Amino acid sequence: MSENKYTITAALPYANGPLHLGHVAGVYLPADIFVRYLRMTEQDVVFVCGSDEHGAAITLRAKKEGTTPKAIVDKYHQINSTAFNDFDISFDIYSRTSNEIHHKTASDYFKKLNDKGSFIEQTTEQYYDEEFKQFLADRYITGTCPNCQNENAYGDQCEKCGSTLSPTELINPVSTLSGKTPVLKQTSHWFLPLDKHEDWLRSWIKDGVLDGKQHHNPKDWRNQVVGQCMSWIDGGLKPRAMTRDLDWGVPVPVEGAEGKVLYVWLDAPIGYISATKEWAQQNGKNWEDYWTGDRKLVHFIGKDNIVFHAIIFPVLLKEHGDFVLPDNVPAYEFLNLEGDKFSTSRNWAVWLHEYIAENPTKIDELKYVLTAIAPESKDSEFTWKEFQARINNELADILGNFVNRAVVLTHKYFEGKVPALGNTTDTDKEVIAEMEKFPAKIGELIMKYKLREAQAEAINLARLGNKYLADTEPWKLAKTDMERVKTIMNVALQITANLSIVFAPFLPKKAQKIGEFVNFDSKNWGFAGKSDLLPEGHQLNKASILIEKIDDAFVDLQVEKLKESSAMNNSNFPPQKEEVAFDDFMKMDIRVGEIIAAERVPKADKLLKLTVDTGLDKRTVVSGIAEHYQPEDIVGTKVSILMNLAPRKIRGVESQGMILMAENENGELSFISPEKAFNAGGEIR
Ligand code: 2FM
Ligand code: ZN
Repeated sequence: MSENKYTITAALPYANGPLHLGHVAGVYLPADIFVRYLRMTEQDVVFVCGSDEHGAAITLRAKKEGTTPKAIVDKYHQINSTAFNDFDISFDIYSRTSNEIHHKTASDYFKKLNDKGSFIEQTTEQYYDEEFKQFLADRYITGTCPNCQNENAYGDQCEKCGSTLSPTELINPVSTLSGKTPVLKQTSHWFLPLDKHEDWLRSWIKDGVLDGKQHHNPKDWRNQVVGQCMSWIDGGLKPRAMTRDLDWGVPVPVEGAEGKVLYVWLDAPIGYISATKEWAQQNGKNWEDYWTGDRKLVHFIGKDNIVFHAIIFPVLLKEHGDFVLPDNVPAYEFLNLEGDKFSTSRNWAVWLHEYIAENPTKIDELKYVLTAIAPESKDSEFTWKEFQARINNELADILGNFVNRAVVLTHKYFEGKVPALGNTTDTDKEVIAEMEKFPAKIGELIMKYKLREAQAEAINLARLGNKYLADTEPWKLAKTDMERVKTIMNVALQITANLSIVFAPFLPKKAQKIGEFVNFDSKNWGFAGKSDLLPEGHQLNKASILIEKIDDAFVDLQVEKLKESSAMNNSNFPPQKEEVAFDDFMKMDIRVGEIIAAERVPKADKLLKLTVDTGLDKRTVVSGIAEHYQPEDIVGTKVSILMNLAPRKIRGVESQGMILMAENENGELSFISPEKAFNAGGEIR
């Protein structure tokens, strides 16, 4: 019989890059531990996640890599879902928001709320990039945060102080497309009037009271979650736009809303619902059971996602009507790496898929370290030195050593059969009583989302075993008192079996291995502390090495690798574009051309109209180089010209080809000219 019903979500990672250890330590691993524990205690639970494939995070990445948003999300969805699978994160489903079921679910959700009047439609002024002819939503705009003066805050959020912003709040806004100051232009959008929800949000978050009933115990929520939400609410909630002028996302399902999509922070959390639907369809379940009634909904997230999960999504859920609101939103602080922040752009990161590829047999070792240092209540730090110390001094010396001694000694004295408990001394009784308390103690900590402490208690059980063997010294007694040795080994083996239970949520592979040593399947035992898990005469298997130690060379290598790859990537140039076939390259006709005339294009600051002698003909090319070259200085210059680019009209002038330019890190442009005095017409290959 299931006691409680849980729907557990882990923040859908943007499919715009690989996952690093910071993501794992602060969302996916804790969620997985929690879920594994719930499953062991026979709670009814579904664990959903997937790729967040919309929003400016994706389109900007595509632009940077010179490819399409679709190619970006396909690539990173593949990398990330494989990495999660290899890392043994036990999602029931890892979906993606580009799936049709999600588009439909998000679209219907919006329609339902729009029909019942949950939104207000408003025309406002928003920043617009005149050069790129695009409204600048969210990450398309950066500027100085009005709250902490961070100069690189995004239009929707400051990642430094965590505050949620709107683009017009930024000081000195700059378009990330053109690098220029944007202009304000009118556009209409659907806003969620958060201000109207202030009252119930306040009592729900502060007191845990919803609709006059106690919904959850507010003390169970982390301080920083309640704190961030209350400071947001106390600052006065403002209507927030739920749509964007973008061409990538779920189209706004309203007539006349062409060119507009749902705000990614509206569509992504609905992704939890679509993922549940998809899973339910595949498994013959009714998805609504997982979002209504007495379900406990728990969102595991990073701290930069707090307001979206504890304010905006709850408002959307409540407006919808039937759905449950989160029972808890365990948010994690950030993990740093070797004295610095994780940074994708500087390549200062340990990427999960790379770690797995290089260390396929050290999965649980990494899990152990990440849980031991998890940023539960404040930012924490990963170093390879600590990785080594935790594995060698805790996992190997305490857990590995104890399990090994218990199994090896039983083989040595009793042919690998569990000896009878016999008469117990006070010491034995105390150790047995203490052992029996561990699973409950660990379970309670897990349910309070204190996973660091919970795992530390699991290690303490191994410590208890080590101390027991060290105090009783069965290897000495073996010469004089074999009856006593039987009792001691029986107790030690029961501790071993209990270890395979309590470590199962944290280190599933190691726990299973411990179980195999003592020929015990922890799956059948729930999470209860018992002293008779292994009956007298039960045959053990042989033990092998549970944890291999990490040597100094490994640590040095990892630190070196990190520094090297970050130095290599420490350029301001965009990453390499996608591979092209040789044949595709050969389709391009690039030649030496000579500029024979140049003039400015009226009312276009950037453009020059060039006449180029290509050796075959004399043609007109419009080029965006007017800020870098004076027309009179460039006549006679040999340049590289792409001849067979389809002609395009630029500011009323037909451009027949493209002049190739090199760009340096400061954005300066240079012609690419043959270094010898070659005639116009020569092919460039
Ligand atoms: O911060 C992020 O990585 C977001 N992609 C998280 C989305 S969580 C949920 F709403 F889907
Ligand atoms: Zn800030």
